[in-house]
Amino acid sequence: MLEVKDLRVGYGRTEVLHGVDLTVPEDAVAAVLGHNGAGKSTLLRAVVGLLKPTAGSIRLDGEDITRLRPHQRTARGIAYVPQGQQAFGPLTTLENLRVAADGRRNGAALVEEALEMFPALRPLLGRRAGLLSGGQRQQLAIARALITQPRLLILDEPTEGIQPNVVAEIERTIMALAARPGMQVLLVEQHIGFALQAAHEYSVLASGRVASRGAGGTASAAETVRAAMAI
Ligand SMILES: Nc1ncnc2c1ncn2[C@@H]1O[C@H](COP(=O)(O)OP(=O)(O)OP(=O)(O)O)[C@@H](O)[C@H]1O
Ligand SMILES: [Mg+2]
Repeated sequence: MLEVKDLRVGYGRTEVLHGVDLTVPEDAVAAVLGHNGAGKSTLLRAVVGLLKPTAGSIRLDGEDITRLRPHQRTARGIAYVPQGQQAFGPLTTLENLRVAADGRRNGAALVEEALEMFPALRPLLGRRAGLLSGGQRQQLAIARALITQPRLLILDEPTEGIQPNVVAEIERTIMALAARPGMQVLLVEQHIGFALQAAHEYSVLASGRVASRGAGGTASAAETVRAAMAI
């Protein structure tokens, strides 16, 4: 379980998040919605330790991780797929997966399991990641995150800028991952329909504050989200 309390984060002297609360319950998917510039990616960067909050706290399964470095949070089971389909361009698909598995005793099995989740990557194993399409790179980025066997998978707009048939595949995979016991997912998503379908609960960020929150999957949720985003 992830518990973010009264988080204040900014860049230089400019505060972007003005006291944000967020919870990802055990075995749940939490979605964060909001317009461009609302502070969604900033919130995720603070959760993974790339930005230092000026106030507030972040707890994972009861442990205060607010001051831990990014690699210490990774070691505690947080995996992060940043916005914009990132992978190590000069390495092949397979090398990218192996690097993620590096140092793990069951590395080969983890790579195989990730390929079962993303069969579209199999024919691309020998291709340099820099030559993959956006959708393929996004699948590779999620596969790499999975290999670290996360308890909390953090995805920043995993379907942004990707063609619809690949979007459907990525969404299917996210739903399958979300169903795994012991897996929490924190999902930033612009597609309200998918976010509310996938999420047990949602938060709408507007100008660095939570403008609305509620349970996903209800008929009224989409209406409430659209109203909150119209602010
Ligand atoms: N590295 C940075 N330096 C300074 N300001 C930044 C930086 N990154 C983001 N910001 C500012 O912080 C605010 C929130 O940005 P953030 O990237 O968190 O928004 P977002 O909700 O993820 O938007 P999008 O939907 O476009 O990805 C914006 O006003 C943005 O201009
Ligand atoms: Mg963003």
